[in-house]
Amino acid sequence: MIAGMELDDQVCYCFHVSKRKILNYIRLHHPRRASQISECGGAGTGCGWCVPYLQRYFRESQQEQISEPELTPAEYEAKRAEYIKARKGQSSSEDEETAASE
Ligand code: FES
Repeated sequence: MIAGMELDDQVCYCFHVSKRKILNYIRLHHPRRASQISECGGAGTGCGWCVPYLQRYFRESQQEQISEPELTPAEYEAKRAEYIKARKGQSSSEDEETAASE
């Protein structure tokens, strides 16, 4: 899990999906693939920034082991801003492919 992220903090900023929603989705729907988390409010189908984090939540749900990067919600948001800046206007159709693949 992301250290410092509270359940009500957003993981997917594009679609305003909170950590709570994602964890509940995983717990209730038992997705077989990380990409199925996109069914939770479209998480991961926008810019693609949160996809690795969704995959991490998925992996952590599969195995009890938890390895947390030391990110606060503010750091997480700032890193996303850097990520968006680095992408420099790639098309959103590529984002969807990114979100759909694992
Ligand atoms: S932050 Fe989740 S797709 Fe952009």
